[in-house]
Amino acid sequence: MLFTLTCVCQPLSSLCSYFPYNSSSIKSVGSKVPSFTPEARESGYHIERGLEFSTGDAFFRQESATGRDLGVLAASLHKRDTGRLRILDALCGCGIRSLRYLAEAGADFVAANDGNEEYGSTIVENLSRVSGVEDGRWVVTHLEANRVMMDYYLQKSFFDFIDVDSFGSDSSFLRSAICTLKLGGLLYVTSTDGFSSGGHRPHHSLAAYGAYVRPMPYSNEVGLRMLIGGVAREAALLGYHITPLFSYYAFHGPVFRVLLRLNRGKIHDSRHYGYIGYCHQCGNSHEFSWDQLGQISCSCSTPKVSNSLVVSGPLWTGPLHDGAYLMDMLNLAKQWGWIGCDGKDSLEKLIKVMVDESDPKLPFGYIKLDEMASRAKINSPPLKTLMSAMHQKGYAASRSHIETNAIKTNCPMTECIKIAKELLKVSVA
Ligand SMILES: C[S@@+](CC[C@H](N)C(=O)[O-])C[C@H]1O[C@@H](n2cnc3c(N)ncnc32)[C@H](O)[C@@H]1O
Ligand SMILES: [Zn+2]
Repeated sequence: MLFTLTCVCQPLSSLCSYFPYNSSSIKSVGSKVPSFTPEARESGYHIERGLEFSTGDAFFRQESATGRDLGVLAASLHKRDTGRLRILDALCGCGIRSLRYLAEAGADFVAANDGNEEYGSTIVENLSRVSGVEDGRWVVTHLEANRVMMDYYLQKSFFDFIDVDSFGSDSSFLRSAICTLKLGGLLYVTSTDGFSSGGHRPHHSLAAYGAYVRPMPYSNEVGLRMLIGGVAREAALLGYHITPLFSYYAFHGPVFRVLLRLNRGKIHDSRHYGYIGYCHQCGNSHEFSWDQLGQISCSCSTPKVSNSLVVSGPLWTGPLHDGAYLMDMLNLAKQWGWIGCDGKDSLEKLIKVMVDESDPKLPFGYIKLDEMASRAKINSPPLKTLMSAMHQKGYAASRSHIETNAIKTNCPMTECIKIAKELLKVSVA
C-alpha cells in the first residue's frame, strides 16, 4: 500500500489505546472457556458449522451464516495461496466471524472491533474458545470502525482481509478499509439498503455510492453493482482498482455482499463502469458507456427520444464473480465436508449457480419469466426448457442466484418472447 507491503504483526503494546480492557482483564476472561448447558444455549448460545458461541445482547442473524461461510472459505484460500492471514473484522457484533476466521480459516491474527462496548465480554468469551489472549492471535476493540481502520493504517499495520459488515448503505467505511488493506488483499463489504437498489432513493444512492439508481426489474443485481461500483470509485481515487471475486445477494435483510481483491494501479479504461438502461416499452436492456452520454435511446423508438428508457449509473457493469475462484471455494467446501449436508438451499447449489453466472458472455441483469410471460400474454414455458432453447440458438443463459424464476442471458427480451412462443407452439402441437 502507501507505505509497505510487508506483513506487519504489530505489538499489542502499540495498540494499547484501543483497549477498553487492560491486557490482564482480557487474560482472565480468556483463560476460562465456559461450558454451555442447554439452558445457556436457549439464552443466546448457538452452533454454526460445529462451533459453539454466544451472541449475548449483540446483533446476530442466523440467516447470514451463508455469507459467513463464503467469507471463511475465501479467507482460508488466501492463507493457502499467500501463507499468511491477518484479518480485521471491523463491525464484528458478537464476534462470530472473527471466531470462524480464527478457528476455520486458520487466521494468524484477527482484530475484532465493534463500536458497542457492551458486546466486549461476549466477543472475548467467544474468541477465547480458540486461543487465550496471551497467545496474541486476537485483540478486541470498541472503536468507531473508521477510527480503528485509520489507526491501523497510520501505524502502517495492514491487513490481508477486511470484513465490513455494516448496516444500510454506510459507504463511509470504504475509503479507510481500502487504505488499511494490503495490495492483493481481500475486502468483504456489505450493503443492506434495498430501498436504494430498488431505485426508491436515487439521491441517497448517489450520495452513498455515486450512482443514480432508478427502479429496474433486476434491482437486486443492481444493488450488488452499485456496491461494487462504489468501491471501484473509492479505489480509483486512491490509485488502485478492484476485481470482484464473488457477489452474493440474500433475500433476508436484504443483504448485498461482495468480495473484492485490491490491485495496484488505476485502470484507464471505463469498460466495466458505466450506465445501464431498461426500456419499459420493449423490455430490452442496454449498457451505455460514458462517451454515449447524450445519445442514449432504445432501438424500439429510434430516432425519437426514448421516454420509455430508465437509466441508472454509473455502476459496475463487469463480471460479478471470478468463476475459477468460485470453483476453488467449492472444492475447499467439499474438502471440509460442507457439501451435501445442508438440504435444498445448499451452499453447493449457490456456488454452482454463481459459477454459471460467471460466463463472460452474460451481461448485467436477468429476464424475469413472469415479466416475459406478461409481455407476451402467454404462460411461460418451464425455465429449463426456455434456457436450453436459448442455448440451442447460440445465446448464453444461466440461472440467477438472485432470482429463482429468472434467466441471466444475452438474449434480448424481444427475442426471448419469440423463443417462448415458438416453444409453446411446439408443445401445443
Ligand atoms: C450487522 S452487525 C455485525 C454482525 C456480525 N458481523 C455478524 O456476522 O454477526 C453490525 C455491527 O456494527 C456495529 N456498529 C455499527 N456502527 C458502527 C460503527 N460506526 N463503528 C463500529 N461498529 C459499529 C453494531 O454494534 C453491530 O454490532
Ligand atoms: Zn425499447
